[in-house]
Amino acid sequence: MSSDTQVAKLVLEGKEVELPVVTGSEQEKAIDIRKLRAETGYITMDSGYGNTGSCESAITFIDGEKGILRYRGYPIEELAARCSFLEVCYLLIYGELPDAKTKEEFESAVTRHTLIHEDMKKFFEGYPRNAHPMAILASMFCSLSTYYSSDAGLDQNIIRLMAKAPTIAAFSYKKSVGQPIIYPRNNLDYSSNFLSMMFAVPAQDYVVSPVLRDALNLLLILHADHEQNCSTSTVRMVGSSQANLFASMSAGVLALWGPLHGGANQKVIEMLQRIYEDGSDYKKYVALAKDKDSGFRLMGFGHRVYKNFDPRAQILRKAAEGVLAELGLKDPLLDIAKALEEVALDDPYFVEKKLYPNVDFYSGIIYRAMGIPTEMFTVMFALGRLPGWIAQWKEMREEAGSRIYRPRQIYTGATQRSLS
Ligand code: COA
Repeated sequence: MSSDTQVAKLVLEGKEVELPVVTGSEQEKAIDIRKLRAETGYITMDSGYGNTGSCESAITFIDGEKGILRYRGYPIEELAARCSFLEVCYLLIYGELPDAKTKEEFESAVTRHTLIHEDMKKFFEGYPRNAHPMAILASMFCSLSTYYSSDAGLDQNIIRLMAKAPTIAAFSYKKSVGQPIIYPRNNLDYSSNFLSMMFAVPAQDYVVSPVLRDALNLLLILHADHEQNCSTSTVRMVGSSQANLFASMSAGVLALWGPLHGGANQKVIEMLQRIYEDGSDYKKYVALAKDKDSGFRLMGFGHRVYKNFDPRAQILRKAAEGVLAELGLKDPLLDIAKALEEVALDDPYFVEKKLYPNVDFYSGIIYRAMGIPTEMFTVMFALGRLPGWIAQWKEMREEAGSRIYRPRQIYTGATQRSLS
């Protein structure tokens, strides 16, 4: 951020207040109101934080109008085509892509920490079989803090989180289907190891499909960070009180769970399934989405930031077609998704409100092709988003003079009254 010579002038009760303008490295502008309350007694109102810059960050850049997403300056399209998920993790968390030696060390460290403490396995036994895996993931992330103290050092705990998250996710799935858990294998890469823990069964060979491995790698990269979204802001909010890394990540999982955020990928498939079972009459559902009284929204459509297209959705649309073709699968839900997209993109309601498919619209089709059950979709999102949360948490904690997050409010309740 650079301080500008430009200033904004605000006239309040006849008094002029000068507010500095700050400019980001991509020329985004902000009015710095940090001294506003002290100088005027006023605060600003911005429910939903649509106009509020809560921090300065050098991690992810999004231009919602142009459909641009970059991690540490690299376009998402290039990273998705050329990198492994762990390389992207390293880039997000430490600022640069790892060189060959660092890459090997990082991958080897993550591979060697995939086991969870044997005692933690007992936790899985206590949950009902139909427990939502997001609830389990959040609880397990928090529970990691009871086994691994902050004294181990941040880098060590980052490795632990990255390494153990897929193990926890896969164990929760195995629990839900009543199968024995499959331990991680050190001879597999990150994505293959996860697929093996999910789908291998004891005493039977399981060969990881390279198509699925690559698709998972792609999905994880596309979800890895998205600047100050709801879950990331939650992670920063919780971390700002100096809560530990594991607790802050647990809070991120919980924020992600909601259907307006990461939970949307589950809702998309449920919606497509509903349309399919209702005779694939997708036009009826477009009409329903336009009717405010129906309470129905086209899940996977719309975004707070992207107002032109979501670059991740474009990559995933192609990938979904590619994965199904390579596996020789046909999914009627993909046909419904494409038809819905076509109708909606031509409809004045969606055009005027700038509603486009978002990342969740096509991700579920690929997860289905992998055999991942719908309830696990948001867990998959969390596995992808984890390095972003870690990077943002680390950035905030390392920033000189970072303060606890503490917004203000305008009180609208009763004025003072007495019990008598
Ligand atoms: N279907 C139908 N109408 C939608 C819509 C959708 N998916 N998304 C937004 N709209 C309409 C709203 O009704 C609103 O109309 P209005 O201006 O006439 O009141 C307008 O578009 C703006 O929507 P709003 O909810 O104010 O936008 P937001 O920025 O607060 O919310 C989302 C963004 C993503 C939460 C919202 O678009 C949504 O609920 N999408 C579906 C859930 C989803 O896919 N979430 C994943 C996000 S990655």
